[in-house]
This record gives sequence, C-alpha cells and structure tokens, in this order.
Amino acid sequence: MDVDELHAAQAARWRAADPLLPAPDAPRPDPVRAPGGAGWLRRLDPDPQSMVATWSAARMHRLDAHVAGDDPAAALGALLDLVDPDLGPVGDRDSAVEVFWPSRDTAPVLALNRRGFGAATVVAVRRTGGPGAPTPPGVRIRPLEPDDVDAATRMHLGIVRYDAQFGAVGERPSTEARMREELTGRADHPEPTAWVAELDGRPVGLCEVDPPDRACWLAPLCADGPIGYLSSMFVDPAVRGGGLGAALHAHADAALRAAGATRTLLHHSPPNPLSTPFWYGQGYRPLWTSWRRRPARAR
Ligand SMILES: CC(C)(COP(=O)(O)OP(=O)(O)OC[C@H]1O[C@@H](n2cnc3c(N)ncnc32)[C@H](O)[C@@H]1OP(=O)(O)O)[C@@H](O)C(=O)NCCC(=O)NCCS
Repeated sequence: MDVDELHAAQAARWRAADPLLPAPDAPRPDPVRAPGGAGWLRRLDPDPQSMVATWSAARMHRLDAHVAGDDPAAALGALLDLVDPDLGPVGDRDSAVEVFWPSRDTAPVLALNRRGFGAATVVAVRRTGGPGAPTPPGVRIRPLEPDDVDAATRMHLGIVRYDAQFGAVGERPSTEARMREELTGRADHPEPTAWVAELDGRPVGLCEVDPPDRACWLAPLCADGPIGYLSSMFVDPAVRGGGLGAALHAHADAALRAAGATRTLLHHSPPNPLSTPFWYGQGYRPLWTSWRRRPARAR
C-alpha cells in the first residue's frame, strides 16, 4: 500500500470507530516505512518556562503514523522498532515518546502495550449542556476574584501534585509562577472563566474553562463543535464526595454552553481513581488517548 492508500484506509477505520474523530492528518514527505505502515517521528520539547513543561517530559518525541491492512498492530510495532534508535539516550528519565491515538481505534493498541507504553492521558468529550447538579447546602460558587489567586494557585497545584503520582505530569520550577499568572489573568477577565466554591467563606473548590474562542487549539481533535475546554477542577480533600465537584461542573458546563460550545473536551489521567470515575459519571467518554513511554528508550 502506498502512503495515500494507508491514509485512506486509516481514515475509513477512524470513521467507523468514532463519528467524532476528524480525518487523520495528511501524509507528510519522507515517512519511515514498514509493511502496512508509514510513520513520522518529531520532537515536541516544551519551553521549560511554559505551562506545557508541567504536562510533558523535557525531551518529548512523538510518532505520528498511518497503519492499515490485516494487522495494524504489527505495522505500528514495526514502526516503533524502526524509530527506537532515534529516541535519544537509553534511560533518560526526563524523556518520553508519545503516540497520540483515537481511543476507539483499538486495532493497533497491543503494539504499544507490548513495548511498555501506558495510557498517560485521555482527552474526553461530552455534549455541552444538560441538567446540572445542585449546589450542596452551605456552599457558594462564584467567579474567581483577584483576592482568590493565592488560594486558587494552591488548589491548582493540588491537581498537579495529585496527578503527578500517575506519571503524566510533574511539578517544574516554573509551574507555580505560570499558574499564578494564568489565574491572575482569569480573575481580571470581564467574562468569568474560573469559579471558586466557598464553604463558610473558605475556598474549597476551583474550576476553570476555556470558551470556544480560547479553545481553538483543541478544535482539530473533534469533528463536532464549537469546542469548549474544561481546563481544571479541584475540590478540597476534606469535602470530596459531597457533590461539590458535580456542582462546579454544572457551573462550568452552563458557562460553556452560554458561550456557544456544543462539545466540551477535557484532559484526565486514566489511573487517577478520583477524576476518572467522576468524569465518566458526568457523561464524558474517551476520544483520544496519549500513549507514552518514559524514558523514551527504556533500559
Ligand atoms: C475529581 C474531584 C474534582 C471530584 O470532586 P468531588 O467533590 O469529590 O465530586 P462529587 O462529590 O460531585 O462526586 C464524587 C463522588 O461523590 C458522590 N456524590 C455526589 N454527591 C454526593 C452526595 N450528595 N453525597 C455523597 N456522595 C455524593 C458521587 O456520586 C461521586 O461518587 P462516584 O465517583 O462513586 O460516582 C475531586 O475528587 C478532586 O479534586 N480530585 C483531585 C484532583 C483531580 O483529580 N482533579 C481532576 C483532574 S482531571
């Protein structure tokens, strides 16, 4: 199969697997070739001073691939083996290799599992809008204000520290400063995009969203839209399990709907035992999975 035929076959498989998937990116020049597969390896190293550095390894490799035929897993496996020598030094703990793949196109996934990749993050999707959960008694949910930035930064750091246990994210020297800047910007914004939940005047929850005009970077991931993005959610450990997360979600969802979003996307870490059941209970489902191996070249 030539590269255009591979692209067409993969596009047909993706269409059949999930109506919300876009077509695969067009083939690029100079692929790595294996029977039934074509791949392109690229570097996505984040700026260490940017927020992306928190969500990524310092040296980030990504394999994009088109695989088809009788055994897409064998094709993807062969591509991964071919690019392996280009993944930097063996055992570099701040390196990772990623294959970002539609969650429901399961045909090639075994190749990743067999080579030590794990599902690091999922982009989940839900139709925006719908009946929202009530706010628990004694709780007040209100837009983030400048005086909340310290507490909101602590809560946002709480997400990173909790999720860091599962390997996909890690606090960097720049993390806190970037979060503070981001939250300061949100607190000054005339249209609220962040909310704080207060219990007896104490901040106990945080939720942030990007309406469609700020979520353009994610739009190519979903064939339907406009897309809104739910970028963070945190509830104080002392009050979890009482419906506060669901109430914050209802606020975020209503705001995204009012801003014109018809689909909401979010990232979560599949092994997170709190967020994963919570999001699926709220009606989200997996759209894309980031399969990662870290170090990029295991010992
Ligand atoms: C994920 C998170 C935001 C959920 O917040 P929460 O306030 O605990 O959420 P809720 O209380 O609405 O729902 C959680 C559970 O409590 C249950 N619950 C909801 N209302 C309830 C009520 N009134 N009484 C008792 N239980 C209730 C829900 O059914 C749910 O249980 P389930 O997961 O078994 O279905 C919170 O666990 C958290 O901050 N986790 C750490 C940070 C994190 O992972 N953030 C998400 C990153 S993607």
